[in-house]
Amino acid sequence: MPSKRILLIVGGGIAAYKACELIRLMARSGHEVTCVLTAGGAQFVTAMTLAALSGNRVHTSLWDAGEEAEIGHIQLSRAADLVVVCPASADLLAKMAAGICDDLATTLLLATDKRVLAVPAMNVRMWQHAATRRNVARLDGDGVIVMPPDEGPMACGEFGPGRLPEPAQILARIEELWASDHDAAREDRPLAGRHLLVTAGPTYERIDPVRYLANRSSGKQGFAIAAAAAAAGARVTLVAGPVGLTTPPGIERIDVESADEMARAVDGALPADCAVMVAAVADWRLAETSGRKLKKDDGPPPTLDLAENPDILADLAGRADRPRLVIGFAAETHDVLDHAIAKRARKNADWIVANDVSGDVMGGEVNAVHLVRAKGVESWPPMPKSEVARRLVDAIARELADG
Ligand code: C5P
Repeated sequence: MPSKRILLIVGGGIAAYKACELIRLMARSGHEVTCVLTAGGAQFVTAMTLAALSGNRVHTSLWDAGEEAEIGHIQLSRAADLVVVCPASADLLAKMAAGICDDLATTLLLATDKRVLAVPAMNVRMWQHAATRRNVARLDGDGVIVMPPDEGPMACGEFGPGRLPEPAQILARIEELWASDHDAAREDRPLAGRHLLVTAGPTYERIDPVRYLANRSSGKQGFAIAAAAAAAGARVTLVAGPVGLTTPPGIERIDVESADEMARAVDGALPADCAVMVAAVADWRLAETSGRKLKKDDGPPPTLDLAENPDILADLAGRADRPRLVIGFAAETHDVLDHAIAKRARKNADWIVANDVSGDVMGGEVNAVHLVRAKGVESWPPMPKSEVARRLVDAIARELADG
């Protein structure tokens, strides 16, 4: 468990002495503890004890001029990962439920944007009182986590629920909270730990120093896929042809011009878990380029002799160290599905995302695609390119998780 910063509010009650043991356990687990001691808490333990155990200064007053210069009560809760109220007296629970803030503890409880765990300890009748029941229910509704007290003999001589749970149990509950956060975060980031390689945009094939052959690819779909993959937690390398797009956050972008440069950049970006080749790579380049601008008065119009470009997708899919999942795109103006199915086999790609570019897909915001896989074809309705990207990234995450 990575170490966390805990703001511990020690309320009034005999159970405050157990907070001392809790601080010791927290510190021993590597957590950084800062204590706030209420006036009631100070009747049972001293600020000196808490400072010695936590190794940090103890805060007691809302009216500390030095701290209020930095709006101390807000600062204190901001600097924490979790606020723990232990023991939470009936009075503290009531104030928290009502939103009363008349001292440092209650003020920062109202000001915090962090999760709050309250660990009540009180006399059994106070715990069972309708007012406390109401307050606990309200706190629960407000998102405060209230740890149920233990049952047993109490300091006041009575027996029943109201005892503070053992400090080890409280720490276990805290670590359980963080473990569930961690799982939730992993669910949001299904590509965490994966490397995705995405190509996007057109390539420019040089004719002479001022002219080139190109196509109408805008790069938008590829950039959207790179952005969605990064948002899903992947490390993303985006090899981009010449496009006028800004780099989505958290992405390593390599700018290239020609298919040859793109092929080299792809090679240099390996290994990857998945490659999504969205770039509209020019099929041909000039067999010979001119070092000087071709001039009209050099004679009759020049003949452009073309040579085939490397097929980056097919080459990548054929390598022994290929990414586990190689995805190609197929932009077609007719017989979209037939071509895509044939292309998947010919290029040895795992999936082909096929789109009909007979309309205004190129440069537009909307795309309608078919996902062609060994197990069959899924046709998606028209949707924004960002949504196509999200769905494709979800499918990639599922595939990588399964394999
Ligand atoms: O053969 P075609 O250009 O229709 O195939 C499109 C798919 O192949 C796209 O994924 C594109 O990025 C890739 N491709 C490539 N290298 C080429 C041509 C296309 O990687 N020279």
